[in-house]
Amino acid sequence: MCGIIGYIGGGNAAEIVLGGLKRLEYRGYDSAGAAFVADGLRVVKKQGRVETLEPYLKEISARIGIGHTRWATHGVPSDANAHPHRAGGIAVVHNGIIENYAELKAELISGGAKFLSDTDSEVVAHLLNKNYRGDLTEAMQKTVKLLKGSYALMAICETEQKIVAARCKSPLIIGYGDDGNYCASDEPALAGLCDTITILEDGDIAEITQKNIKIFDKFFKPVARLKEPNLAVSASLGLDGYPHYMLKELRETPLSVEATARAFEKVKNTLSAALAGVERVILTGCGTAYHAALIGKRYIECFARIPAECETAGEFRYKNPIIDEKTAVFAVSQSGETADTVEAARLALSLGGKVVAVTNSHRSELTRLATVVVPVAAGPEICVAATKSYTGQIAALYLAAAALAGEKFYLECAEKLKSIPKLLTYTFESLDMRSLAHICASSSSVYFLGRDLDYAVALEGSLKLKEVSYVSGEGYPSGELKHGTLALIDYNTTSVVIICDEALAGKSENAVEQVLSRGGKVAVITNIEGVKKRFTGKLPLVDLPPCDKFLSPLLSAVAVQMLAYKAAAVLGREIDKPRNLAKSVTVE
Ligand code: M6R
Repeated sequence: MCGIIGYIGGGNAAEIVLGGLKRLEYRGYDSAGAAFVADGLRVVKKQGRVETLEPYLKEISARIGIGHTRWATHGVPSDANAHPHRAGGIAVVHNGIIENYAELKAELISGGAKFLSDTDSEVVAHLLNKNYRGDLTEAMQKTVKLLKGSYALMAICETEQKIVAARCKSPLIIGYGDDGNYCASDEPALAGLCDTITILEDGDIAEITQKNIKIFDKFFKPVARLKEPNLAVSASLGLDGYPHYMLKELRETPLSVEATARAFEKVKNTLSAALAGVERVILTGCGTAYHAALIGKRYIECFARIPAECETAGEFRYKNPIIDEKTAVFAVSQSGETADTVEAARLALSLGGKVVAVTNSHRSELTRLATVVVPVAAGPEICVAATKSYTGQIAALYLAAAALAGEKFYLECAEKLKSIPKLLTYTFESLDMRSLAHICASSSSVYFLGRDLDYAVALEGSLKLKEVSYVSGEGYPSGELKHGTLALIDYNTTSVVIICDEALAGKSENAVEQVLSRGGKVAVITNIEGVKKRFTGKLPLVDLPPCDKFLSPLLSAVAVQMLAYKAAAVLGREIDKPRNLAKSVTVE
């Protein structure tokens, strides 16, 4: 999945495309490129960050341009695999995956086409070139009929003064400017450039000129699509003195919880009304959002006593799930654009279920299709690793589950949640992760262990550590340790045991002893006084303030996230943009 932007107008296309690509880097950052109509077609593409491209674009003067920042799916990150791809006088950028590219490529090669990359996307350039009879819009119409998969496409031709765009399953928006028009994979790319946008629908093809925009539906009939205000914030978000966005965003966790609680008040009644009569809940999401969903499942079961299941969105989609009008599917996603989560939500709706979008992106694919939106108000999250959005998701799910349990219970829970921002601030001030971070950074593997809610946080701790520090390991239920994983424990491994549930503390303490007796290193994260007394002075101990057990994941989450951050810093990793990843995963 990648970011794409196009511009045609009176301004400097190279500058505008470059600015848009910088804003789109969260969608991928392993290579970048751009194409312009300027005395013929000029294509510049480079492996690496957008900044690598910058000096080349400075030399270009053009009025029409398209750009791409890539997260590799087919073909390694390299200059050749970077977009745009060119065939004849046509260049194209693509976000998505062309699933039938191998057949198309074989056919094109047998017809004499010469491929220069290993990407699926290059077939689109060759098809456009093959189908071109003097009109790029018609060539696009013929081409998309042949494509299977997902795509947001933008193409330009050396002999035409227009950009032609097409979408299927991957988002694409048009921006209406004063002296020209835009097209992009999402709103942030157009922040500060235009006030009005149109979100294209699946099957749409748009022909964009400096003065005019024509949109055609999947039958190639002209259509009028809704014009909406562009809500993307143009101000660039600074680090405010922090060395990394991850640390800055972690420190914004108290605000995220507070703002999410305030935002929930506004949707509480709508949610309760929409879910009246629901007899079953399924929660879904990917990565960190899935870990929040696991905690939400326990809230819904414990508070509302509604049977709840939780599944990663990529699995859920392909399991022919049993859903009817009495099923609510909570789709949890920071970005609201994650392909698996969006498609899982779409599937749930098509089967008659209700979809609750729990998201930090209040205008996204997910919010557009949801029955009801439960906002996470974490604010923009720049670091690829999710931090404050995770805690915001937990807070939102806590309140949603409480609301489903009735007004009295909800009010009690909302009151309890109010104590958390202060406890979080206290936690940040008192946490000292330096020595544990060094221990983890030098371990061959780090295992995060816990039971019930602590296990869900253990999964998140493990993911975060892997993601930003590249130290391997897993999150594991502490009771399961002795059924296999114990074989991996030796003096090079560290186990971080989370113990924030008094009723299960003794059980997790057993896991501590089992690891110690096999020579493994152990650290304990706890907010239980008895556990603190038992291990103080014997083991590295992360001492969290006491709180309600259902709210403890908010505190233990910041502890494991901070540990991951510090370990990554010890190892000198590129924390905000870890290798091989992207913030927004818009492909399967
Ligand atoms: O935008 P989403 O919440 O849907 O993203 C889901 C995952 O891709 C995301 O949480 C990912 O696991 C994070 N990079 C983890 O820190």
